[in-house]
Amino acid sequence: MLYLNNLAKRYGKFYAVNGLSLHVPKGDLFGFVGPNGAGKTTTIRMMCGLLKPDFGDIIVGGNRYSTDKNAVKRCMGYVPDFFGVYDNLKVYEYMEFYGSIYGIDDASVKRMTSDLLELVNLSNLEEQYVDTLSRGMKQRLCVARALLHNPELLVMDEPSSGLDPRARVEMKQVLLNLNSMGKTIVISSHILSDIAEMCTSVGIMNRGKLVTAGRMEDILSLGINNHHLIIDIKSDMETAIQKVREIPDIGIDSVMEGQIVIACSGEDEQINRIMIELMTGGVLVGGFRKEEQNLETLFMKLTGDDINVNQGMPMGPVKGGMNR
Ligand SMILES: Nc1ncnc2c1ncn2[C@@H]1O[C@H](COP(=O)(O)OP(=O)(O)OP(=O)(O)O)[C@@H](O)[C@H]1O
Ligand SMILES: [Mg+2]
Repeated sequence: MLYLNNLAKRYGKFYAVNGLSLHVPKGDLFGFVGPNGAGKTTTIRMMCGLLKPDFGDIIVGGNRYSTDKNAVKRCMGYVPDFFGVYDNLKVYEYMEFYGSIYGIDDASVKRMTSDLLELVNLSNLEEQYVDTLSRGMKQRLCVARALLHNPELLVMDEPSSGLDPRARVEMKQVLLNLNSMGKTIVISSHILSDIAEMCTSVGIMNRGKLVTAGRMEDILSLGINNHHLIIDIKSDMETAIQKVREIPDIGIDSVMEGQIVIACSGEDEQINRIMIELMTGGVLVGGFRKEEQNLETLFMKLTGDDINVNQGMPMGPVKGGMNR
C-alpha cells in the first residue's frame, strides 16, 4: 500500500529525515513512534505531498510521488497535528469547505456527512459550531473530513495528543473501527501504550532514521532475550558479575549499585538455573524480579543518544521492510 523509498529531507545541512525506507502493507494499522524532533511529522508531511522530499520517492497504491503527485494525494486522507481555528463555522460548513478542496459538490458532501459523523461518533452535530466542540470531538471531526474523498490510506499525526483518557479511548475505537473496515492507517503518537495496544505494526524513528520497523509482535520479541531479570546482590559484586558471565545463553544488560540486570528469555527453568548457578557459586542473592520488554523499554533502548548520528548524505535502504 505505502512504500517510502530512501526518503530524505534536509534543512540547510541538517537532515530532518535521512534515508528512510518503509513498507506499510494494505490493511495495517501502523504506529510511528520516536522522540521529539525524530522526524515523524516531516516524514508524514512528505507522505501526504505537503512537503517535497530532497531525495527518494513515495509510492501509494501504485502511484509514485515523483511522477504523479496528485494521484498520491488522492489516495491519502491527512489528519494534521493541529486543528486550526474556524470562527463561526458550523460542522456541515466545515465539511463542505473541505469537500470543495477535494472537488466534491455540496450536495454529495451533505449526503456523506451524516454517515461520516456517525462513523466518528459525532452523529447529528451538523448544525453545531466547530469552535464549541471539545478537543476530542474536533480531532474526530478532522478524521471525518479526511475521509471525505474515501482515501485508501489515512495518515494521522498525533491524533490523540492533548486528549483526556475518555477522548483517547473514543479516538482509539474510531481508528480500530476504520481499520476493521479495511482502511490502512498510519498514525504517529507519543502514547506508546496506545500504539502497542491497537497497532498491527510499528516503526521506531530516531534522528531522522528508522531504527526498526515490523509487525508489533515481532518487534516486541526482538531477539530471544526479551526479558530483564533484575537481581539484588548482597555479596561481592565482582564475583557475582563473573559468575553471571559464566552462565550460557544470557547476557548482562547493565550493572547498578547492588543490582545486576540480566537479559534473558524469562522462562522459569532458565531463571531457576541462573539462581542455582549464582548461589552455588557463593553469591548471596537478596531477591529478584522479572520484567518483560514492552514498547516503552524497547523505545528507550533504541532511541538512546549514542545511536544514529544524523550527518552526511542519505544512506541506502535501512531495515524497515515488512513484507508479509
Ligand atoms: N521548517 C523547518 N526548518 C528547519 N528545521 C525543521 C523544520 N521543520 C522541522 N525541522 C526540524 O526537523 C527535525 C524533525 O522535526 P519533526 O517535526 O519532523 O519531528 P517530530 O518527530 O514530528 O517531533 P515531535 O514528536 O516533537 O512532533 C527537528 O529537529 C525540527 O527542528
Ligand atoms: Mg511531530
